[in-house]
Amino acid sequence: NQREIAIAIDGPAAAGKSTVAKMVAERLRYLYIDTGAMYRALTLKALRDRVHLEGESGLVELLDQTSIALRQSDNGQVVLLDGLDVTLDIRTNEVTNNVSFIAKHPKVREEMVRRQQELASNRSVVMDGRDIGTHVLPDAEVKIFLVATVEERAKRRYEENLQKGFMSNMEELKSEIAQRDQIDSERDASPLIKAPDAREIDTTSLTIEQVAERILEEASQAIAQQER
Ligand code: CDP
Ligand code: CDP
Repeated sequence: NQREIAIAIDGPAAAGKSTVAKMVAERLRYLYIDTGAMYRALTLKALRDRVHLEGESGLVELLDQTSIALRQSDNGQVVLLDGLDVTLDIRTNEVTNNVSFIAKHPKVREEMVRRQQELASNRSVVMDGRDIGTHVLPDAEVKIFLVATVEERAKRRYEENLQKGFMSNMEELKSEIAQRDQIDSERDASPLIKAPDAREIDTTSLTIEQVAERILEEASQAIAQQER
């Protein structure tokens, strides 16, 4: 029987993490855990409840009273905030442009990491985020760090928005992505950084399938090593 492993996928915004993480999880029949969705769900609740985004203790208190669940459905992953489906609500610009301010608080991260480790315990997972290889799953057998130029990443978001039916401004997208990357990389608490033992893949000129293929190769090597 095949031994199972943990796969950590990190990288900046729109590098392709969630798309390839889902694909890899499906192929291996592992559980996919989108940690960004958890920070987004808390951000949505804080915005709705008008909780101050700069106040760490208020946010920790809010998080303590909040249940965030990730469910797999036939139409993909569903995010439940206190039992209600917020899958689409957490993808608005308002949430996207505020999430990094919430994610920089060390005590908020501590609790999120605790929940993420619990979700991954005794299970084979593909988890994506910013600090998975460095903090959440430091012992993951496969660590991947995806990168792409900011132009390419803005183009991807542009196309995504077009498919959802609205036009966006490329320059605006570029500066929003760059700003979020900067906040995520410069914060003190588990910043966005490549783990020393992670494999970096530049996805700028790769297809989703090519990226998934490379990760699956790493995974099968790691599985083979475990079986030795
Ligand atoms: O999909 P996209 O790259 O736009 O973002 P996401 O993965 O949904 O993450 C949204 C935000 O949550 C990031 O910009 C980070 O501020 C934060 N985040 C984090 O700090 N740590 C994680 N493990 C995952 C997300
Ligand atoms: O999760 P993250 O923010 O890193 O990125 P994503 O939401 O998975 O990917 C952003 C978009 O880029 C998606 O629409 C993917 O289909 C697309 N993509 C691509 O065109 N080529 C790749 N090699 C990877 C992703």
